[in-house]
Amino acid sequence: MILTDEEKAYLEGSHGQANRLAMELLVSVGESFGSERLIPITSAHILGHYGSLHQAGIDFLERLVGGGGQCRVPTTVDPSSVDFERWEKFKVPEDYVEKQKRLQIAVEKLGVIPSWSCTPYFAHNVPRFAQNIAWAESSAVAYANSVIGARTNRTPFGLDICAAITGKIPEFGLYMEKNRTGSILFDVKVDTFSDLDYHTLGAIVGRRSGSRIPVIKGLPANITTDRLKCFGAGAASAGSVALYHALGVTPEAQLKDPFGGKRPEEIFTVSRKDIQDMEEQISTADPNAKVEMVTLGCPLLSVEELKAVFQKMRQRRVKKEIFFWIYLTQETYDLGKALGLVEPLEKAGIWFSTQTCATISPVKVWGFSHVMTNSAKCALVVPSEHNLTVTYKGTDGCILTATEPV
Ligand code: F3S
Repeated sequence: MILTDEEKAYLEGSHGQANRLAMELLVSVGESFGSERLIPITSAHILGHYGSLHQAGIDFLERLVGGGGQCRVPTTVDPSSVDFERWEKFKVPEDYVEKQKRLQIAVEKLGVIPSWSCTPYFAHNVPRFAQNIAWAESSAVAYANSVIGARTNRTPFGLDICAAITGKIPEFGLYMEKNRTGSILFDVKVDTFSDLDYHTLGAIVGRRSGSRIPVIKGLPANITTDRLKCFGAGAASAGSVALYHALGVTPEAQLKDPFGGKRPEEIFTVSRKDIQDMEEQISTADPNAKVEMVTLGCPLLSVEELKAVFQKMRQRRVKKEIFFWIYLTQETYDLGKALGLVEPLEKAGIWFSTQTCATISPVKVWGFSHVMTNSAKCALVVPSEHNLTVTYKGTDGCILTATEPV
């Protein structure tokens, strides 16, 4: 790689040990990907949950703290593996909480904004079109690349914080214009969409695309950001979609031919039947098995989504034999409180949990065997994470299952 004098000085340790270690990692990853140079970034989003990082993650972050590391660009952190306020209520073992707290202390000492959110693009960390950023978290990456038009690969743990500390990332993959063109077209022939359809469509697109960049025709031009959030999360978890172009919706598809002047190598027409088939495939549970827990909020619930739940919950309460958990950011919870949405829902029996989610927290301790969710990402990931079966239903179906009339 061709390095600037400043980058060489980092490698020699003249900016401290954390910067030296970070630069070494960036250069070695860059060289392994054939990158020629490092490029500046304007934002980072890192992983910080103990459930995936384990002791090795703690050791690495604490080493950077010990070496004087400090984020040079605005940096947020993905959800934690525990709800810092309600971990006892959610039965998280104390030693597990202690490990997560060490990660919390480390990221805060490194100057990370303690957002503990997988939707940083809604608050605290909002990149602009065409900016280079270094983000982790597959659904956030899909949103940043596709909906905003910023540029990032799916940055793995370790590289994310090194990029945040140095303000640099090796140039390869989606940082390069030539790698951002689509090669598979999804022609969606569906007239009306439910909320669940966007998750499911994402799963169809993700599964068929694999690592190719999909272009989608047929999404409504006025699709909400929440629905794009859910679509991207489904696509990123069912395949490895980090960027999609939606004709008439996402910015790069509005500015140029998303196929770069070439013909798509595959055209796939999506019908209502394809959506129904995928819904059935995502559910793994025996339809007659008793649901023990219903969860909403993957990606974390927004205020608009919370308002919709509130409307649907009028005159209903959670059944005694079922847990109904909703995951959201601290900001959404606080705004929900200010709007008078949270208290009535808590009185109706819903448990809110902030700054974490069902997938990355140790839900296993409850011994559930069957959960229900309205999220394709949660439904696709939770069975292997927590060794349980899942039923995948829309928000209405989840609420009807979890609650009864007052
Ligand atoms: Fe976010 Fe957790 Fe889902 S991090 S995208 S709510 S798996």
